[in-house]
Amino acid sequence: MNSAILGTGSYVPTRVLTNADLERMVDTSDTWIVERTGIRERRLVAPGQACSDLALQAAQRALLAANVKACDIDLILLATCTGDAPLPSTACLLQHQLGATRAAACDISAACCGFVYALSIADAYIKTGMRHVLVVASEVMSAITDWTDRNTCVLFGDGAGAVVLGQGSQHSGILSTHLHANGRLPEMIHVPGGGSREPASKEVLDNKRCFIKMKGNETFKIAVKSMEEAAHEAADANGVAMADIDVFIPHQANMRILKAVSQRLGLGQEKLMINLDKFGNTSAASIPLALDEAVLSQKVQKGQLVLLAAFGAGLTWASALVRW
Ligand code: UT7
Repeated sequence: MNSAILGTGSYVPTRVLTNADLERMVDTSDTWIVERTGIRERRLVAPGQACSDLALQAAQRALLAANVKACDIDLILLATCTGDAPLPSTACLLQHQLGATRAAACDISAACCGFVYALSIADAYIKTGMRHVLVVASEVMSAITDWTDRNTCVLFGDGAGAVVLGQGSQHSGILSTHLHANGRLPEMIHVPGGGSREPASKEVLDNKRCFIKMKGNETFKIAVKSMEEAAHEAADANGVAMADIDVFIPHQANMRILKAVSQRLGLGQEKLMINLDKFGNTSAASIPLALDEAVLSQKVQKGQLVLLAAFGAGLTWASALVRW
């Protein structure tokens, strides 16, 4: 039996940061941002709003859609690189806020691939008998963004997405997941300070070592190749032709990356789910955020083949194929 996605949910904070706002903060322009990234605006948390707050909203919506009660969740996996604090896990905070008293809970750290990694782990637990797993991806990227660095600050946004996994049938649900990592290039996308290598200090703060740094151009090329590879892997493992994919939901990093990948895969624009124009790159949250929008707008329909592909820091890359 496959595991099935019983319900989806998402949440974005209400505060909108437009490209025009960014023009007033750094040396950039709406034209550059739209042409080079496809992003027009992104959402930012309100002061005091943290990762678990976004996760709670998304999780409650997913539980409602799945018609599953919080007390019936066995496990909570929360994918994030911007948890409320280093300790305890944000998943435990969420467990309490949801009232999911029976659920085990832990965070998953796989950057932009976090959701697909967590989905894969959840899938394995459901296949081995667990009844309900809540997978949430929630990110407050604004907390690790250097708002004086035009190379990165125009890219990221805050948001959360969630799915509830349960027992499915033989022919539908999660057909496969494929996960990859290559730790040889950690500096492609990283936050160098604030961990045990460079603990939080005035120096770390002064040198902006607690903010995200990215070699955008090099990352771009690897992202296209890796997502293409992961997508093919998903199709091949299931004996499915790329033409049979109904909806392609890639990690929302950059419009040019999404278009290049779908073009290489021979997937028409009508099959590609894009919402990064509204939300920017929300790291792990981007796929479940886009998936929920696709479900609510009925772009994803029962019986369809949905392909998810992600790429991110680590480096990591991953895919999942789902028969809806
Ligand atoms: O989620 C994890 C995965 N992340 C990704 O996959 C991100 C991948 N990378 C990208 O999306 C793109 O590489 C960026 C959007 C980050 C950058 O686009 P690019 O076309 O690769 O630009 P570039 O880095 O090669 O920079 C081109 C020029 C540079 O100026 P010079 O050196 O040619 O004079 C940059 O300084 O654009 C300049 N630039 C900007 N100009 C205006 C960089 N950022 C900005 C900006 N506004 N915000």
